[in-house]
Amino acid sequence: QTTLADLAQRHGRYFGSATDNPELTDAAYTRILGNEFDMITPGNGMKWYATEPQQGVFDWTAGDEIVNLARANHQKVRAHTLVWHSQLPGWLTGREWTADELRAVLKNHIQTEVRHYRGKVYAWDVVNEAFNEDGTYRETVFYKTLGPGYIADALRWAHQADPRARLYLNDYNIEAVGPKSDAYYDLARQLKAQGVPLHGIGLQAHLALQYGYPTTLEENLRRFARLRLDTALTEVDVRMLLPATEEKLAQQAEWYGDLTRACLAVRRCVGITVWDYTDKYSWIPAFFPGQGAALPWDEEFARKPAYYAIRDALLG
Ligand code: G3I
Repeated sequence: QTTLADLAQRHGRYFGSATDNPELTDAAYTRILGNEFDMITPGNGMKWYATEPQQGVFDWTAGDEIVNLARANHQKVRAHTLVWHSQLPGWLTGREWTADELRAVLKNHIQTEVRHYRGKVYAWDVVNEAFNEDGTYRETVFYKTLGPGYIADALRWAHQADPRARLYLNDYNIEAVGPKSDAYYDLARQLKAQGVPLHGIGLQAHLALQYGYPTTLEENLRRFARLRLDTALTEVDVRMLLPATEEKLAQQAEWYGDLTRACLAVRRCVGITVWDYTDKYSWIPAFFPGQGAALPWDEEFARKPAYYAIRDALLG
């Protein structure tokens, strides 16, 4: 049986899935996770709250479990994420920091974590979700305390700790050309001009049928390629208003096919990761009540039209 990973590899790409520690006790789940994909992303286990629950006290349990499983299955790992305003530990959010203090905290977090996973991960989402929808900087604790330079610093610190890891900035709603993706384009151009170690832009691609398909995706991937940057679709899902109907599932399949073809059309789009592969473990229903059915496998692990559309796109 040819897998999505096999088919992606024929194009020099990978096909990945996110996963999370609690699901790993589900044998039906891990069987497909281990077979079908060649890239794995921990959905939560490498985030700051999980890895540094107390200041200076690091816990690699969750991340290591997933890295070890991936290694046993001959899969690579896209590591996620070092600097994000969400899922921060209480010790960090619960007090005020001077710029010097926070800079030291940030540097220590990044370098300790990247060093721990050095040689074991293919790429890092170094900074996640740094911009607002209108392309202004998101006013996170890092931005407010350190200014926009925290992004270049984070990339440099990560690069020192693992010179071989591919370093990404990652965000949602940047699939189409628009104010938010323009902000990444402008920042990436500046960072490259300054010699900052940035290797790729991750487009999360949390799409929703009711909001329309990002038709300028391929054009957007191309402009980043012209900056000599890789791109990746890092957290793909296509949610819909429930109930799922045959028509919605067919439209969803078309979108999965289209985004796969867009990536294959641009040489520096290195691969696609779905934000878990089965509706059984999707984050969508908990965050968007009344929506779901966003992934290529259903809750019973049956392949949906979306799976076949991805396969057909990869078959060319
Ligand atoms: O760990 C607790 C557990 O102890 C508790 O019993 C349970 C009850 O709700 O919650 C657990 O924490 C949850 C955590 O995932 C771990 O499962 C949080 O409530 C839940 O909010 C959290 O959701 C994660 C979300 O990021 C947080 O923003 C999702 O699993 C994860 O898939 C999602 O991933 C993000 C990417 O990192 C960045 N891009 C967007 C994407 C979707 O939001």
